[in-house]
Amino acid sequence: MRSSTTSARRMSRLDLFIRRMTAQRAAIEHAVEVIRDMPGSILEVGLGKGRTFDHLRLCCPDRRIWVFDRHVAAHRDAIPDRETLFLGEFAETVPAAYEKLGQTAALVHADFGSDDPRTTRELALWLGPWLARFTVSNGLVLSDQPLEAEGLEPVALPPGVEPGSYFAYRRRVAP
Ligand SMILES: C[S@@+](CC[C@H](N)C(=O)[O-])C[C@H]1O[C@@H](n2cnc3c(N)ncnc32)[C@H](O)[C@@H]1O
Repeated sequence: MRSSTTSARRMSRLDLFIRRMTAQRAAIEHAVEVIRDMPGSILEVGLGKGRTFDHLRLCCPDRRIWVFDRHVAAHRDAIPDRETLFLGEFAETVPAAYEKLGQTAALVHADFGSDDPRTTRELALWLGPWLARFTVSNGLVLSDQPLEAEGLEPVALPPGVEPGSYFAYRRRVAP
């Protein structure tokens, strides 16, 4: 019997990719609106091909965007200026960047998931508290992975973004 292409079927790799990209763009554009009047920089944790970095800089031309990755493999039109790039393993660059930047980010966008679920989960556990530290009160953290950290509370994603396809948090105001 031929399988149906329209009724309940698993999501293909293409479906999942489109879902992730759609969620990413909607979450970023929504977050940019929320922080519109909030001073602060942006952190892009995971440059990759530079797609979301490029989108962020188009949406926020007046904000400083600090970028993290172990290497530069972005499209040549989406390579950050060297002085805004923390190049190396997050384990080294994230604590070093905190020494330099402190709690100054209005928005953190973290996209670091890989094909290795265990490494991704461990990285998410480690990164969550660091990302919270960088974020100003009421600032936002977006991530492709669920995060857990003191001071971060989940917030709703914009309409149309399927739950579980992206994750958004607000930095609680310090008591
Ligand atoms: C999914 S890609 C980011 C895609 C990017 N947002 C884009 O739009 O093109 C994840 C990136 O995180 C980087 N990365 C993952 N784990 C890392 C680590 N422990 N230290 C440094 N970079 C890491 C990878 O090198 C990769 O470029």
